[in-house]
Amino acid sequence: MASQLPPAPSGYPVFKHAVDFARDPFEFVDKATSECGDIYRMDLPAVDDVFVLAHPDYFNRVLVADVDAFGKTEDYRRAFGNGLLSVEDQQWRRQREMMQPLFYREQIKGYTEQMVACTERRLEQWEAGDTRDMETEMRDLTLEILFATLFGRELVPGEDQELRDAADGLNEWFTPSSWILPHWIPTPARRRFDHSKERLRQEVQSLLAEEGSQSVSPSIADDGVAGGGQQRPEDSSSNMDPSDLLTQLQRIRNSDDGEQLTTEEIEDQLITMVFAGHETTATALAFTWYVLATHPDIRERFDEELETVLGDLPPTYDDLQDLEFTENIITEALRLYPPIHTIPRRTKSDVEVNGFRIPEDHEIHLSVIHVHRDGQFYDDPLSFRPDRWTDEFEEELHDFAYVPFGGGRRTCIGREFALLEAKVVLATIGQQFEFEWEKNRDIELEPRVTTQSKEGIPLKLSPR
Ligand code: HEM
Repeated sequence: MASQLPPAPSGYPVFKHAVDFARDPFEFVDKATSECGDIYRMDLPAVDDVFVLAHPDYFNRVLVADVDAFGKTEDYRRAFGNGLLSVEDQQWRRQREMMQPLFYREQIKGYTEQMVACTERRLEQWEAGDTRDMETEMRDLTLEILFATLFGRELVPGEDQELRDAADGLNEWFTPSSWILPHWIPTPARRRFDHSKERLRQEVQSLLAEEGSQSVSPSIADDGVAGGGQQRPEDSSSNMDPSDLLTQLQRIRNSDDGEQLTTEEIEDQLITMVFAGHETTATALAFTWYVLATHPDIRERFDEELETVLGDLPPTYDDLQDLEFTENIITEALRLYPPIHTIPRRTKSDVEVNGFRIPEDHEIHLSVIHVHRDGQFYDDPLSFRPDRWTDEFEEELHDFAYVPFGGGRRTCIGREFALLEAKVVLATIGQQFEFEWEKNRDIELEPRVTTQSKEGIPLKLSPR
């Protein structure tokens, strides 16, 4: 085993990298990789060193080849208890097997109409000539879609502000200025997080109580395969159940067969879905509207595709399969603006990476955004070019050079849901509105738990 730790970029004498990182984490990453290359150490005075890996070979190693040597970080467990995102080992395997069928393509396909309806309802609030912040609009919309499809609960546009604030508040746990401090310090951001989580817990408890008071039949498909793809095996598609996630989790709890989920696990699961499932997709959509507003040639081709495939009619699931250029736009937006810019893990023992030692029980960060913008893998990496996504290009691309949904067995369970939702929202809004970016400068990014813009994404609406 090598004894040398990875290099650390230059920093201040006492605060080391904490000041630079808290001020602008993306700028810090750029500086660190240019000084040290694709593996380096962040020296943070109040907490242990953090190691950053920025090459797809390392992603493969951590997420697949040597997956058992790396665990999830403790902050996820502290934040989200026994939800799928945070649990490990046997508990994760059991939960993932139970939850996977609820996210198969055949299952989420049934949500298409609700997704369209939610989008149309939000559009009733929009007027040509308005300037709207698309980060806020998309966050509200994806929360409305998530509550409608997964929880069976309608959020009314312009109302339920307290719940919307609570959903946003779940991100406070990961505020950079707070994250670099030990977990027991009750920073204002952490207090906001606790309050938000408590409010959401009350909400899911009351939804579960309502659901529990209605009769439920104890039937749930049990043939999910952890870590597999998102598509349900062909021979079992006749068992599909159109009801929402909350109802189905309730059924799992009431079911006699197999190991059950506890009430606390179900609550944690639902809160985890709010955290993992709405701002991520909202971010992808908000940046997509930004690039469409700033690339008229791409917008024109997008409009032509909508016109040819949909005309004036609302999209159906089958129509969406024909929106190939739209799909390339989403793929490229997820590359250039990956909502999850960093995937964290913790070493379970000392590991050696590229001749450097990373000590046991230390946090490592896989820098997704860095690899997605690396000229070794993408020509002209900072340009938005949906046409780069040809079959030949994908075949040649390193398997781990495009990981917006992670990789290996912990890959995103909501991938199909998110991609369907993104297409529905783009098509439904794109049929009615165009957008204008009125600033004469490019957007600047800010990493919260998801990739955000520094000043929002205000776009001026005009009718199509
Ligand atoms: C564009 C949208 C989305 C992006 C970019 C995204 C990204 C990711 C990534 C990178 C991971 C892996 C995290 C890791 O390995 O530590 C992940 C896991 C996860 N995602 Fe997503 N996600 C999106 C949408 C969704 C949606 C819509 C849901 C649910 C409705 C969801 C639920 C989850 C859950 C529960 C996990 C944990 C899976 C496990 O550990 O087994 N995500 N997501």
